[in-house]
Amino acid sequence: MRSRRAILYTPGNDMHKIIKAAQQTVDSVCMDLEDSITVNDKENARKTSAEALATLTFESRERLVRINPVQSPYASDDLAVILPAHPDGIIVPKVESAGSLQWVSRQISMYEDENGWKAGSIVLIAQIESARAIVNLAQFCAADERLRALVFGSEDLAASLGVQRTPEGTELLHARSAVVLHAAAFGLQAIDQICPDFQDMERLEVDSRQGLLLGYQGKQVIHPAQIDLVQQIFNPTEKQVNDAQLILNAYVEHVAHGDGVFAMQGKMVDLAIVRNAERVIERAKAGGVIN
Ligand code: COA
Ligand code: MG
Repeated sequence: MRSRRAILYTPGNDMHKIIKAAQQTVDSVCMDLEDSITVNDKENARKTSAEALATLTFESRERLVRINPVQSPYASDDLAVILPAHPDGIIVPKVESAGSLQWVSRQISMYEDENGWKAGSIVLIAQIESARAIVNLAQFCAADERLRALVFGSEDLAASLGVQRTPEGTELLHARSAVVLHAAAFGLQAIDQICPDFQDMERLEVDSRQGLLLGYQGKQVIHPAQIDLVQQIFNPTEKQVNDAQLILNAYVEHVAHGDGVFAMQGKMVDLAIVRNAERVIERAKAGGVIN
């Protein structure tokens, strides 16, 4: 699976920031057409983002566009301008049902067919940011084959629940965890909430580590200064990689002797531990920590 340790948002109407974003060492860049763009500037933002897709070099960075919600009057025009420029993926905000993901997917299929692009070449990422979305997660996680990841939209969710945000984040803990649980259950990636205060690196570190511990594989960021710390945190540590490699090597040897369970440095190793070690190696490879 593609590494998305950090997804950097940049307003879709701001070519200066898009150019800057395309030069960052970041896994994914997302040009936003939704909440950072005023109603009067939607058309300009679509055109600017499409131009950026057509003219800038993003190299290995994933090129995403966040469209407006399917239930808004803007989504159709967003796709009509953006899809011809062939982004790598679309982030669909305020998803609450399978229908909205399937609708976007059908629009994409039309462009893929018309242009002779490979089927499935444009992926979908669903933003989960309302109480209804949390309650309906299981209904839309398998809605469409293009769906690759769930992103947790904490600020809109807080508004939907009517709760005040706290540094501890207890008010959203259940929902934040539910997103990880559903992503894992349906083979999707889980990408954590933004930290709006881009000058507070301590807060960013604490929040990123919380997300990592909950099981998130990456985080949305809103400023270039947030990228390095976040991507570092979502890489497995050198010790984790070494330990995982030791476990996998030892397992191969023991299995050759018919032992499915054994002790290593005072701890039991069985298939469950091996599977987790494999996940660490997969993440290290995806993040370029090892080859
Ligand atoms: N992507 C690319 N470049 C960015 C950036 C971003 N998200 N945020 C800031 N920059 C650039 C600025 O343009 C500036 O470049 P310059 O030195 O060449 O002029 C430099 O980084 C420093 O920026 P800074 O002055 O610290 O911030 P700012 O006041 O220009 O912008 C925000 C602050 C919050 C408006 C900006 O970070 C931003 O637009 N973030 C993304 C917002 C967004 O897309 N929200 C929707 C999804 S949640
Ligand atoms: Mg939102």
